[in-house]
Amino acid sequence: MNWRNKCTRNTLMMKSSMIRNLVEMTKSVPGLISFAGGFPSPSTFPVAQLADLYREVLHEDGKNILQYGSTGGEQELKQAIIDQEELDITTDEVMICSGATNGIYTAIRSFIESGDFIISESPSFLGSLVAFEAVGANILPVTMRSDGLDIEQLKTYIKQNKSEKIKFIYTIPDFQNPTGITMSNEKREMMIKIAIENDILILEDDPYSKLRFYGTAKNSLFRIAREKFNNKSVVISIRSFSKLLGPGLRIAYTLADKNIISLMNSWAQKINVTTDRVTQRVVSRYLEKGLLTDQIKHIKETYKPLCDQMVSSLDKYMPENVKWTKPEGGMFLWLNLPESVNTDNQFKKALNHKVAFIPGSKFYSQGSEKYNGLRLNFSFPTAEQIDEGIKRIADTLS
Ligand SMILES: Cc1ncc(COP(=O)(O)O)c(C=O)c1O
Repeated sequence: MNWRNKCTRNTLMMKSSMIRNLVEMTKSVPGLISFAGGFPSPSTFPVAQLADLYREVLHEDGKNILQYGSTGGEQELKQAIIDQEELDITTDEVMICSGATNGIYTAIRSFIESGDFIISESPSFLGSLVAFEAVGANILPVTMRSDGLDIEQLKTYIKQNKSEKIKFIYTIPDFQNPTGITMSNEKREMMIKIAIENDILILEDDPYSKLRFYGTAKNSLFRIAREKFNNKSVVISIRSFSKLLGPGLRIAYTLADKNIISLMNSWAQKINVTTDRVTQRVVSRYLEKGLLTDQIKHIKETYKPLCDQMVSSLDKYMPENVKWTKPEGGMFLWLNLPESVNTDNQFKKALNHKVAFIPGSKFYSQGSEKYNGLRLNFSFPTAEQIDEGIKRIADTLS
């Protein structure tokens, strides 16, 4: 395939640039209310605290931290993360990465060979589906139920495809992007058991679990595998500061068995060299000063009323045949419309009504698309915009 064909090929990468274009397009329409982006609210960014910390760390240790550093990240930040999360692990089981996106890519790059399979929740986060495609993996899509992926379908895939070809089960267990669904404790345990029995790695993508407004926190797959199954290697967990401090920082971390971290480090050396050392030092100071707990509280206090507003506006305006998830945290909610409605078409209608969302088809792997869903983001718009925007979407359906 020559470079021209490669540029125009209809792949998931094209879908992801379509999403970026959709979000860009919404910015230029005056009066448009957008639920399309996946952006945290800028009002939650701790700008003043970070500005002070950047000044502080550069004054104190600028000559060191402006130098190249170790690929896997700064010891100081790794230890601060272990302390913050109260984890019983060592720093060689932690790797700092340039955002979760980079961690996910490095993890799969380290294990996937062209033609391997990755089992993924469906729908799922397009950024990861794109990365799976980029490394030559085939995606096996497993339908999402209200308590996490369909376990029977997962088992069937493993039975049908030689398990040694299936390298990962990819999951976003808490407040999943795009559906807002959280996996039950029973399913967490079932998934780990199945993964251990079949020697498949679980890639746990966890940017949202700390943003819980309702219900009790669930243990991560990483913790359950270690504490309940006494297994250190089955789960690779990727967590990010993007939704806690700001995605512009590009700081995230991977928790995994030390041999897996070491393999990922050797790949990262070729791709990244070092994650921004100044920002790593800033984030470690932020954690050491104990600022994250209040910051998370502040974000939850900001998002909970917005989520409540979205649910109550949906109750108020949507016709009977429209259903939606009621997330206990995170940033997204998913609408299911009647099968006859195609939200790709609905999107154009919605733009005429000056409201935007992401059509559900954009969150499915090639060939497994469903067209009657859509994703709504509640962390970015105001409560007033949410009420008016939901009314506008409902108007497009009548
Ligand atoms: C499920 C999921 N994983 C990963 C990411 C990417 O996070 P980061 O900014 O840390 O790369 C996002 C961002 O929207 C996400 O929703």
